[in-house]
Amino acid sequence: MKLIDGKAIAADIRNEIKAEVAAMIDAGRDAPHLAAVIVGDNPASHTYVNSKENACREVGIVSSVYRHDKDTSEKELLEIVDFLNNDDDIDGFIVQLPLPEHIDEKMIIERIRPSKDVDGFHPVNIGRMVQGKSAFISATPLGILELVKRTGIETEGKHCVVLGRSNIVGTPVSILFSRKSNPGNCTVTVCHSRTQNIKDITLQADILIAAIGQPEFVTADMVKKDAVVIDVGIHRIPSEKTKSGFRLIGDVKFEEVSKKCSFITPVPGGVGPMTIASLLMNTLKAAKKEIYV
Ligand code: GUN
Repeated sequence: MKLIDGKAIAADIRNEIKAEVAAMIDAGRDAPHLAAVIVGDNPASHTYVNSKENACREVGIVSSVYRHDKDTSEKELLEIVDFLNNDDDIDGFIVQLPLPEHIDEKMIIERIRPSKDVDGFHPVNIGRMVQGKSAFISATPLGILELVKRTGIETEGKHCVVLGRSNIVGTPVSILFSRKSNPGNCTVTVCHSRTQNIKDITLQADILIAAIGQPEFVTADMVKKDAVVIDVGIHRIPSEKTKSGFRLIGDVKFEEVSKKCSFITPVPGGVGPMTIASLLMNTLKAAKKEIYV
């Protein structure tokens, strides 16, 4: 078994972006500029946005954060989105989710100009992805593609089984792996909460992508020998062995599955570190106007 080292691959990507940004600046161009909007005081959202700011700083991408209190109205947020859509200094922006309950997330996402939607959540970007056109692909699916590509895993003709059908991971990943591209060209099966005999299906997987949101759902008896296993899950569980009092586990029972497969992503240190690297990649593409030409 070989570990797919997401931490190291994400660091490589950040270094490549840093070099490209430096070259842009040397050529007299502006550094890429990413903005983030955050509404309310969800601690996880603030931590996440702070990490994005730090990652931007590290690679030379300019970042601005628009922090608004939890009582911000939907109308006010739409005005902020319009402002960012029209500000030529900003190449791309994200509206951090979840939003407070009185705000319709779908309406806000649909207001973002697709050419600035570096989260890849806008239906236009999802539609373009489905049609195989250039599109912003959201952070986790793009991170998974990069992990597979940079590890040199052959996907053509393989059976890829995706556990989970969420809008953010399972559904886009299933489309991307079936697409006529590399990585891609897989035969894809999507399993979800209503799937019957799930083990019969996972045992056929050459590539198994677990994004089902259940701690250690995938056990060794569900995995074919020498399969590639990508674990998208991240769950905090209490632990007496760590200083913090908790540890992170994924959707895969790592200890037993890792003995059976050819490649596996650990948790933490697999898919997780790739998400911010993917956002930086999308921001650079937005600044270079590579997606909407
Ligand atoms: N909340 C958790 N992950 C994300 C993300 O990737 N983008 C946005 N906008 N909100 C999130």
